[in-house]
Amino acid sequence: MILLSVVIALVLNSVSAQSPLARTEIGQPKSLAADYLLPSNIKPSLYEVELEPNFDAATFNGSIRITVSVVATTNAIVLHTYQLTVETASISLLDVNGAVVNSIAGTSFSNDDRQFYTISFEEVLVEGNVYTLIIDSFSGILNSQNDGFYLARYTDEEGNTRKLATTQFEATSARRAFPCFDERKLFDTIFVTENWPPHNSKPLVPGEPFPASMNQH
Ligand SMILES: *[C@@H]1O[C@H](CO)[C@@H](O)[C@H](O)[C@H]1NC(C)=O
Repeated sequence: MILLSVVIALVLNSVSAQSPLARTEIGQPKSLAADYLLPSNIKPSLYEVELEPNFDAATFNGSIRITVSVVATTNAIVLHTYQLTVETASISLLDVNGAVVNSIAGTSFSNDDRQFYTISFEEVLVEGNVYTLIIDSFSGILNSQNDGFYLARYTDEEGNTRKLATTQFEATSARRAFPCFDERKLFDTIFVTENWPPHNSKPLVPGEPFPASMNQH
């Protein structure tokens, strides 16, 4: 049996003034660019992600906690997912004291190339408040397209082909590994802490693979 889990904490830069045309850099027609941006009413500050690959099935599952602050009162959190199955019943929202607050009214996926996943709440999230959004169960495909969280193969010293799960989060690929606010301006600085001692934490350069800790049994 192969067990592998990766615990990643991503500390994101505070977001400075947002350019409504930020996406034009990567080739969106200007007139469409604004529609492709997530609503700016929620700002993530910390991601804690656990991913567990199943090499035989070429799938993975995971859980995530995202610390968010509310920039403008809203009754929904919109983030990105791509080819992920999210268990709606596993979603919860905690306040700063860790108490469960607010009920999920529903979720929806945009079903277009914006890849927006919307979580609607029974009550509003109030401007200025900080919450932890927990998505305790989601799953995806450990793809072989070198994108997101993917399956790679390599040959070891004895000439055996071994499987490896690794990541590629350039541009819009992180949403393929876990639900996130996957816009380049939000991923300016990412620190990987994993489940390693703090001195092993290091900044991750966007586009470079995570130095994932892996234990194969
Ligand atoms: C993946 O799913 C298994 C089986 O349901 C569960 O025991 C495990 O905790 C999950 N892993 C993560 C990282 O969520």
